[in-house]
Amino acid sequence: MTINEITQVPFLDLKAQYHQIKDEIGERFEDILADTGFILGKHVAEFEQGFAKLQEAKYCIGVSSGTDALHIALIALGIGHGDAVIVPVNTFIATAEAVSLCGATPLFVDCDEFSNLSVDGLGDILTLRAEGVISHPSSLSRARPWHGCGSGKRKKVGR
Ligand SMILES: Cc1ncc(COP(=O)(O)O)c(C=O)c1O
Repeated sequence: MTINEITQVPFLDLKAQYHQIKDEIGERFEDILADTGFILGKHVAEFEQGFAKLQEAKYCIGVSSGTDALHIALIALGIGHGDAVIVPVNTFIATAEAVSLCGATPLFVDCDEFSNLSVDGLGDILTLRAEGVISHPSSLSRARPWHGCGSGKRKKVGR
């Protein structure tokens, strides 16, 4: 074994995850294909109900992608042209892309030792110009995501 072979650890091994749930999801996919029900319908409704329950949320709306989920959430919060939204530097591009799709500007903040958005890094940027924050709630236990900074109104938008 060469040094290169030893150090090649995959960053993300989706196949390993797939093999863990292969049989379970295989049956569901067969049902969906047999029903030819690909848009909305009972399978999506079932997913929405199950996911809402898992999240202990009142509602869940299934959308076509993670990008759409972020984009729709920002639109629902009224984010638009001239706004700035804080995003972690170490996220997937879709996080910043969703902000740009609204016509707003993504502001990147560094991550902490747990790879979450750094609360310390938030300080100055938050009081300067941000309208919102996209981050994992665990990194924001000291600074809740909110909307309306700089306008004098502070509306809490996250948990
Ligand atoms: C953190 C994060 N946000 C958003 C997305 C976007 O999801 P999708 O590719 O379904 O649009 C991804 C995709 O990998 C992601 O890793």
